[in-house]
Amino acid sequence: MLQIFSKKYYLRDLLEGFVDIHNHLLPGIDDGAKNANISIELIQGMKALGVKQFISTPHVMQDFYPNTDETIGNSYNQLLEALPVSLKSEIAINPAAEYMIDDHFETLLNDGYLFTLKSNYVLVEMSYYSPPINLEEILFKMITRGYKPVLAHPERYSFYHNKKDYYKKLKRLGCQFQLNMLSLSSHYGKHVEQTAYYLLDENLIDFIGSDVHNQDHVNKLSELFVGNKKINENLKKTIANTKNVFSVI
Ligand SMILES: [Fe+2]
Repeated sequence: MLQIFSKKYYLRDLLEGFVDIHNHLLPGIDDGAKNANISIELIQGMKALGVKQFISTPHVMQDFYPNTDETIGNSYNQLLEALPVSLKSEIAINPAAEYMIDDHFETLLNDGYLFTLKSNYVLVEMSYYSPPINLEEILFKMITRGYKPVLAHPERYSFYHNKKDYYKKLKRLGCQFQLNMLSLSSHYGKHVEQTAYYLLDENLIDFIGSDVHNQDHVNKLSELFVGNKKINENLKKTIANTKNVFSVI
C-alpha cells in the first residue's frame, strides 16, 4: 500500500522558531485585529504553530488607514499592556508597517522617515487593480536612500500573472519579494497559488510571511498542506532565510 509510505507535510512542521515579518496583529488601526483581546488570540494561535517573533505591519494607506508613528506606537503600547506576562516572556513583538505605494508614501520617503522591518528593510504593497505608474522610479528612490524594498505578496497582483517576466525585472531593480503563506493554497484563488509556486520554483522569493488579519487565517495556516513525501526545497530555503535575516531572539 503506497499510502503507508506517504508522509504529508504541513507548513506548521516547518515553523519552529519562525519570525513572522508580515501580519496585522496590532489592535484597532487597520483591517486586522479589532482589539487587544483579538490580538492576543491571534498571537497565541501563531505561537502554537511555532512562531516566536512577530514584526507587526499595519497598513499605512492614505485613503483607508492613514497610520502614523503615533497611531502605530499607541496601538503597540496598548497591546504590550494587555499581553499576559507569561506570553510576553515567550515571544518578541515589534512594530513596523506595510506601506501602500501612494502619494503619501512618496512624501514619507522624501521626508526621510519610514518604519523598517529591521535595519533598512521596508515592506511595501500596491493596489490589486493596477501598479503605480512610477513604481520603478519609487523603487529606485528607495534604494538610493539606503532602503531595501520588500514587495509584499507579489503573487497576489493579478496584472502580473500573464507577464511573469516582469517579476524578474523587479528583482533586477533591487526589489525583494515576500510570499504570503496562504498563497500556497487556494485561499486567494488558483492563479495566485500557481504564481506562488512559479515564483518559488524560479527562486525569486526572498521571504515568507503570514499576512494574518484574523482567526480564519490562523485556522487555515494551521492546516496548510505543503507537500507529499517531499517539501519544496525553495520553500525551506525561504523560511530559513526569513529567520536568518529577521530573527532577533
Ligand atoms: Fe498585509
